[in-house]
Amino acid sequence: MKKQISIAIDGPAAAGKSTVAKIVAEKLKYLYIDTGAMYRALTYKAIQKGARLDQEAQLIKILNDTLIELLPGETGQKVLLDGVEVTTDIRSSEVTNQVSYVAVHRLIRREMVMRQQDLAKNGGVVMDGRDIGTHVLPDAEVKVFLLASVEERAQRRNAENIQKGFPSNFEKLKEEIAERDKIDSEREVAPLKKAVDAVEIDTTSLSIPDVVDKIMELALERIG
Ligand code: CDP
Ligand code: CDP
Repeated sequence: MKKQISIAIDGPAAAGKSTVAKIVAEKLKYLYIDTGAMYRALTYKAIQKGARLDQEAQLIKILNDTLIELLPGETGQKVLLDGVEVTTDIRSSEVTNQVSYVAVHRLIRREMVMRQQDLAKNGGVVMDGRDIGTHVLPDAEVKVFLLASVEERAQRRNAENIQKGFPSNFEKLKEEIAERDKIDSEREVAPLKKAVDAVEIDTTSLSIPDVVDKIMELALERIG
């Protein structure tokens, strides 16, 4: 049997992580794990409960009492929160604009990292997030850091919204993405940054298949 490696994909919002991670996982028949969905699910529940997102103790209490399941779905990953599907709900702009405030807390990250490491313990995973190569899977055989200009990333989200028939404002998206990048990169615990041994890919002018090919090349080298 071929070696089952772990692939870590990190980078800022809308760099293309989940799109390419999903395709690479399909090609290799690996498990795709979008760790952002776990922070989003907790944020969604905390908002519903009226919790204060700056209060770590309140949030950890909620998390300790929360089951987040990431299951393979027809169009990627299906997310269940305490047994109820929330795949779409956790993508709302309210959750998107609050999630980084939840993800700053040390205890929350510690618990999330433990859960993520458990999901990846048998290898054969493509995991995307912000701290996968640096903290969650420091020994991953392949580490990739995806980048793209903020204009390009806002343009991508804008195009997604328009395609779905949602209202969209490019300038607002640009501001929101820049703000989230800032919080994610400047937080004290496990900030968004390239692992020293990660391969950086600037996707600004690359197509999705171009990025997938580059990652597949790195993966196949390691799988042998
Ligand atoms: O898909 P998008 O890039 O918009 O975001 P996401 O991957 O769903 O992540 C949402 C937020 O969760 C990020 O902005 C981070 O604040 C947090 N996150 C994190 O701190 N660590 C991770 N491994 C994944 C996400
Ligand atoms: O997961 P992350 O937030 O990093 O980004 P994503 O949700 O995978 O990608 C954001 C959007 O950019 C999607 O609509 C992709 O189809 C698009 N994309 C692109 O146009 N070119 C790429 N090289 C990668 C993604």
